[in-house]
Amino acid sequence: MVTMAAGMGRLGTESAFEVLARAKALEAQGRSIINLGIGQPDFRTPDHIVEAAVKALRDGHHGYTPANGILPLREAVAEDLLRRHNVKVSPEQVVVVPGGKVTMFFAVLMFGEAGAEIIYPNPGFPIYESVIKFSGATPVPLPLLEKDGFGFSADEVLKRITPKTRLIILNSPANPTGGTSAKAEIEKLVKGLEKHPNVAILSDEIYSEMLYGGRQHTSLLEYESLRDRVIMLDGWSKTYAMTGWRMGYAVWPKDLAEHATRLAINCHSCVNAAAQWAGIAALKGPKDDVAKMMKAFDERRTIVVKELNNLPGFSCVDPSGAFYAFPNIGKTGFAAKKLELALLEEVGVAVIAGTSFGSYGEGYLRFSYANSVENILAATDRIRKWLQQKKVA
Ligand SMILES: Cc1ncc(COP(=O)(O)O)c(C=O)c1O
Repeated sequence: MVTMAAGMGRLGTESAFEVLARAKALEAQGRSIINLGIGQPDFRTPDHIVEAAVKALRDGHHGYTPANGILPLREAVAEDLLRRHNVKVSPEQVVVVPGGKVTMFFAVLMFGEAGAEIIYPNPGFPIYESVIKFSGATPVPLPLLEKDGFGFSADEVLKRITPKTRLIILNSPANPTGGTSAKAEIEKLVKGLEKHPNVAILSDEIYSEMLYGGRQHTSLLEYESLRDRVIMLDGWSKTYAMTGWRMGYAVWPKDLAEHATRLAINCHSCVNAAAQWAGIAALKGPKDDVAKMMKAFDERRTIVVKELNNLPGFSCVDPSGAFYAFPNIGKTGFAAKKLELALLEEVGVAVIAGTSFGSYGEGYLRFSYANSVENILAATDRIRKWLQQKKVA
C-alpha cells in the first residue's frame, strides 16, 4: 500500500474534461451528442501560425530553449502588450510556459502554504481553488453575482483581505460567466490595494481579446502602483485557437520573474521550441482570422442568449466577454449537477454545472458557444422539448 502526500487528497479537477470524456464515450456508443461543454474555440489555428511551427521544425529548432522562452518570443510579447494595453514591459519579465494554467500553478505555489490565505473568484476557473487547496493555503472565495453581471465588486475583494492574505486572483473577462469588470470598479480596487502593499495579485487576462459590444479591456498592468506585485497571465490558447499547442505566458514583477523561471526549470525545462516560433507568428502576423473568429462568437452569443432566455425556467444575462453563457436555472427546479447529468445522458447535450466552478455556481449552467449556430439551435431545441416533457413552466 503506497502512501501519497496529503496534498493529493486536496487536489481538485476541472470537470469539463470529465464531461468531455463521458460525451466521447456516449458518442462511441452511437449517441448524438452536441458539445457545449468544452472551453476551447472550435476553429483551426490560423495557417500562417501552423506554417511557422512547421518551418521551425524544418529549420532544426529541435533542442531545449531558455527556460523562460526564446528572446524573440518574449520581445514579441512585450511589443504586443505595448500595442494592446499601452504598457511597457521588459522581455526579462516575460516567462513563457506550457499554457495559461502553468502560471496559475506557479503563482499559487509561490505564495500558498499552510496559514496563508488566497482570495479567488467563485464561480471561477476550478483550478484556482484546487491548486490553492493543494498548496495548503486557505481558499477565500470571492462571490461573483449575477446582479453585478458577474463582475467583481472592489469592496467585496478588499473586505476579504486579512494579515494572512498573500495573493488575490482576479479574472476578467471571466470563465465560466463571460462577465467582465467595469473600469471604475477596477480603479476602485487598485486604490484600495495600494493600502495593502504585501498582497500579490494574479490577474488572469487570458480572454482579454474576447470582448463584445465595443468594450475595451483594462489590464492590471496599466497601474504603476501595482507593478511590483501584479502577475499578468495571458496566452495563445483562446485568442489564436491554440489550446493544444500549450502556449501561455505571464508578465511577472521584476523580482519574481527569476523565481518563476526557477519553477519552470524544475518542472518542464522549456516550452516546445517549434510552438514558440508559432507563438511569434501569432503575435506578429495578420489578425484577420482572429477577427473572423470573434465575429462568429459575437453572432453566436446573441443567438445563444436569446435561445436560453426562451427556455422554460432559464434566464440568462448578456455575457460581455469570453465564449460562455451562464444561465440561471433556478426556476427549472433542478440542481445544477442533476441537470448537467440529465442533459448529457437523456438529451445528448454536454454543458457544465455551475457548481463545477465553485459553490456560488449552484443554480447555473455553463454553455460554451464554441460550436456552430446550427448545433446551438439544435441543442436548445432538444433541451426545450425535454423541459416541456418534465413540465417545467
Ligand atoms: C480563466 C482561464 N484561465 C486560464 C485557462 C487556461 O488556459 P490554457 O489552456 O492556456 O492552460 C483557462 C482555460 O480554460 C481559463 O478559462
